[in-house]
Amino acid sequence: MSSSVFTPVTLPCGVVLKNRLVKAAMEENMARQGQLPGSELFRLYRAWAEGGVGLIITGNVMVDHLAMTGPGGLALETPEHLPAFSEMAQNAKLNNTIAIMQINHPGRQVFARMGGKVLSPSNVPLNMGKHSKLFGQPRAMTLAEIEDLAMRFDTTAKLAKRAGFDGVEVHAAHGYLLAQFLSPLTNKRKDEYGGSIENRARLLLDIVKRIRQSCGNEFIVSVKLNSADFQRGGFDVDEAANVVKMLEPLNVDFVELSGGSYEAPAMQGRTADQRTLAREAYFLEFAQRIAKDTSIAIMTTGGISRLETAHTVVESGVSLVGMASALAFTPDLPNHWQHDPDKNGMIPKVNWKDKTLAGLATMAIIKRQLRRVGDGKRAKPDSSPLWSLITDQVRTSRLTKRYRQSFAAEVDRFQ
Ligand SMILES: Cc1cc2nc3c(=O)[nH]c(=O)nc-3n(C[C@H](O)[C@H](O)[C@H](O)COP(=O)(O)O)c2cc1C
Repeated sequence: MSSSVFTPVTLPCGVVLKNRLVKAAMEENMARQGQLPGSELFRLYRAWAEGGVGLIITGNVMVDHLAMTGPGGLALETPEHLPAFSEMAQNAKLNNTIAIMQINHPGRQVFARMGGKVLSPSNVPLNMGKHSKLFGQPRAMTLAEIEDLAMRFDTTAKLAKRAGFDGVEVHAAHGYLLAQFLSPLTNKRKDEYGGSIENRARLLLDIVKRIRQSCGNEFIVSVKLNSADFQRGGFDVDEAANVVKMLEPLNVDFVELSGGSYEAPAMQGRTADQRTLAREAYFLEFAQRIAKDTSIAIMTTGGISRLETAHTVVESGVSLVGMASALAFTPDLPNHWQHDPDKNGMIPKVNWKDKTLAGLATMAIIKRQLRRVGDGKRAKPDSSPLWSLITDQVRTSRLTKRYRQSFAAEVDRFQ
């Protein structure tokens, strides 16, 4: 099938993507000691590069090793980390693939047992029902901490460039720190960072400006944004469109639209405000609406596993097609689509009553595939949700212990 999905696109910074298919960010939870990538991750990124996507976005890399989304996550803060990240970039860039690093700070979405910093614009804790205690109590950030954060994003972006990545994606979606600033549910500040959407977006815009300035005009600078929080009273699609407009003068190369947070995991196709999402390409309607009104290229991610759906996305004026789950099961899905357009990718669904556990089990199944590919094995589409969840929990406990031992003196300062 000759599909517009396989047409190249030139980003404003001049970088050419060979096609419109993007490996969306997936935190692999496979870091070596010191939160650095090692041979398993190199093999995984090589599989994606050889598998035919035009662009690879890494799993989120933290800008502060004392504020981690998980114990096996990556952090990039100093030049000593560069050799490991350079090898990761080299593997991700094989086969004429463009590779960018997603950079992130979790804010309040930090597991209590990890310890470290639990910062947020305001002191609003996560509400996960009976699972709320799993997360730390956030503290409202001071102005000095906000400045420190902007510097950290800039530092990690500069190091990503030195490591050989073609750009960065600033993570401002899924309820992490920058999304917490954007959302009126978590940002109750009375200063210049709270209130109007201009104020709530100030930190994100400042970070994007700094990175563009320090990394130059030929570096990809992109942003992952929620099309909405999918919670009553949350950040909504009009505000998302407004933030995209504010990003226009900053030479952003593309904006990836997703949705939701830990409280309302719309990125897994589930909302908390009774709104129903499309069965496939969950955020396409929002992405189309925003794409119509902006000169910035738009990417949408969530619920895409068939070439026909990817084709519909591009034909509807959305430039880039993000896929996560499907590329965990079939890293070379784009290559397959070149000669077998009917091959379907897989997105697992776990239908347990406890929606939090179902979400964790879904993530566990997908992470298991990442480890298998990293070990040089094939993915296992029939992985049991319960077994995947149990092994993931055991593994996470072991990695949490390792993390706390590695950084004991620093982590304990924040208890
Ligand atoms: C195991 C796993 C880890 C993820 N980690 C990240 C991440 O680090 N950063 C991010 O922006 N999204 C992350 N996501 C969300 C995906 O990028 C994507 O938005 C979501 O899975 C929906 O796309 P899909 O239906 O193609 O899987 C993750 C998803 C999975 C399944």
